[in-house]
Amino acid sequence: MASAQLPLLPVPRLKGHIINVASVPQRSPFRYPGGKTWLVPYIRQWLSSLPARPCEFIEPFAGGAIVSLTVAFEKLADHVTMVELDEQVAAVWQAVLGKHGAELANRIISFRMTPANVESVLSEPARSIQDRAFQTILRNRVNRGGILAPGAGKVKNGEAGKGIKSRWYPLTLKKRILDIGTIRDHMAFVHGDGMKMMRKHAYQPDTVFFYRSALHGRGKTSRKPSVFALGT
Ligand SMILES: C[S@@+](CC[C@H](N)C(=O)[O-])C[C@H]1O[C@@H](n2cnc3c(N)ncnc32)[C@H](O)[C@@H]1O
Repeated sequence: MASAQLPLLPVPRLKGHIINVASVPQRSPFRYPGGKTWLVPYIRQWLSSLPARPCEFIEPFAGGAIVSLTVAFEKLADHVTMVELDEQVAAVWQAVLGKHGAELANRIISFRMTPANVESVLSEPARSIQDRAFQTILRNRVNRGGILAPGAGKVKNGEAGKGIKSRWYPLTLKKRILDIGTIRDHMAFVHGDGMKMMRKHAYQPDTVFFYRSALHGRGKTSRKPSVFALGT
């Protein structure tokens, strides 16, 4: 069956609704400043407008995967697959969706957040997926802007002068990780190239893809939906 781009561009306005992002549950363990919470109502509307619930929803460039998590939690597709190339980001999804989510959650809860402890964890080589996942979560929370790249600066003053602790919410992180664990049977994670994944599944029936173009998401237009969705 030939693939077709669904008419998500431009995304129809949500009739009579002001998007209230506070009503969108935060489900990702990642902090992505400028994250795409505002997009969630559009995705709900798009998926509900399809003739049938998709069998497979694929997010080829997962990152914090807020959209995939929404689709999985709200059962907007039978199954959700997230793809991510970056080793650090991938480790978090591998741990959370694998058998070690609880271990990661406990590690977060037990961690005493001090600059010395952060330094010590981040200077050690990761020996397992769980090690790498924990380091990634830590970096995402203590680095300015959540940036994971080597050399990223740490938060200095942060919220209310709390410094590196200002984005560290261990109980919230634990809850999100354990909650995701409850739906992991409906989700899969692939550590690999999202482009390849799209090519591989392009003609699979009842499959939809969701991705955003970085080119459209910058500058003044960054809050405008610029989403590509493909259905077969
Ligand atoms: C901006 S985030 C997207 C987050 C989320 N999907 C969204 O729309 O808000 C882009 C993610 O894609 C990942 N990425 C970049 N190239 C990729 C590729 N070829 N295959 C899979 N993931 C890729 C990056 O590492 C990054 O985590």
